[in-house]
Amino acid sequence: MARDLNIGMVGYGFMGRCHSNAFRTAPNFFDLPRRPVLKAACGRDAAKTQAFADRWGYETTETDWRKLVERPDIDLVDICVPNDLHAEIAITAAKAGKAVITEKPLARTAAEGEAMVAAVEKAGVPNLVCYNYRRMPAVTLVKQVVDSGKLGRIYHYRAKFLQDWTISPDVPQGGAGTWRLDVEAAGSGVTGDLLAHCLDTALWINGSVDSLTAMTETFVKERVHAATGKAQPVGIDDAAAVLTRFANGSLGTFESTRYARGHKALYTLEINGEHGSLAWDLHDMNRLAWFDHRTEGAFRGWTSILVTDGEHPYLGKWWVPGLIIGFEHSFVHTMADFIAAMDSDTPAGPTFRDALETTRVCDAIIASGRSGAWQTL
Ligand SMILES: NC(=O)c1ccc[n+]([C@@H]2O[C@H](COP(=O)([O-])OP(=O)(O)OC[C@H]3O[C@@H](n4cnc5c(N)ncnc54)[C@H](O)[C@@H]3O)[C@@H](O)[C@H]2O)c1
Repeated sequence: MARDLNIGMVGYGFMGRCHSNAFRTAPNFFDLPRRPVLKAACGRDAAKTQAFADRWGYETTETDWRKLVERPDIDLVDICVPNDLHAEIAITAAKAGKAVITEKPLARTAAEGEAMVAAVEKAGVPNLVCYNYRRMPAVTLVKQVVDSGKLGRIYHYRAKFLQDWTISPDVPQGGAGTWRLDVEAAGSGVTGDLLAHCLDTALWINGSVDSLTAMTETFVKERVHAATGKAQPVGIDDAAAVLTRFANGSLGTFESTRYARGHKALYTLEINGEHGSLAWDLHDMNRLAWFDHRTEGAFRGWTSILVTDGEHPYLGKWWVPGLIIGFEHSFVHTMADFIAAMDSDTPAGPTFRDALETTRVCDAIIASGRSGAWQTL
């Protein structure tokens, strides 16, 4: 019988739901050494937290995350709250000897992130940052193809993440749902929120970034703050366009915005190598486009691979070939991999230390956006 893994969930919003669903679903499809138990849900509003706990099957509730973290019956603290709380909760949880998962980005700044890395490494507790896109099967397949050398030398890595939900100047900053527009809560705008996903995938697949230059822009300069009711300067970046040089000699281009009318969550990536190219689009997430220059000329062209076969990453655990999976499955894969590896010497990534590199790149983007100068990492 697998030992219980008692989970304390902080936050019951979008990610609190995604992670709860993942912990409930993972053991039904994956063989895990520990059985996730939804032990306690934590939120500031007692009635809402109880309603969340009832819906998802949490045994108990807390309204103060410090109480949750202190509880001897909690093994894993899962941080699904705005970015300004990640560091304090993670460091306190690590000191209490708990395993820690935090939502991305690791932290608002690399300085905060360094303290988090030091805390989990000193305590020796399993840790992970939930960059879930790595575990979309088609994206994991990209990693496998690149690692296999099939693309040969990599020349270009390009990615973008586009949305359009903050174009109206009437969208406030701060508060529920709009904390992402408040630099205090979020740390940065699209860079830490959206581009961080693209960067995590890129660093994982294509290695580290040596240097970069960025343009950032804040299109709406003032917004009413939910806390004060007053118009205040906006401190986040609304859009970012970035050029990078990777350590492997390839060039990267990254773009992110919340001002691309018509796009809700358009995450795309493309890699061009010596022998071929790969392209992926979140809106068609079960497909991977593949071009192999070594194919006989008359038959050479882009191939659309439906990534649903048993030999594709994770898919052998799901349905039958041809049947697709969705966004939520990437979280199931993340939790399954984390639990499978948490008592081993090879942790599931990205660990806090891995994710610190992404936060360092984010910091460099913000710095370059301000100064206009190239940043060396
Ligand atoms: N991996 C992804 O695809 C993805 C997607 C969305 C958000 N995120 C990340 O997840 C985190 C949460 O984002 P979200 O979209 O779930 O936000 P959300 O606004 O939907 O939910 C935030 C939750 O935090 C709670 N909260 C705020 N302060 C709290 C406190 N002091 N104590 C306890 N609870 C508190 C809120 O009540 C709410 O339940 C962020 O770090 C965000 O960047 C990741």
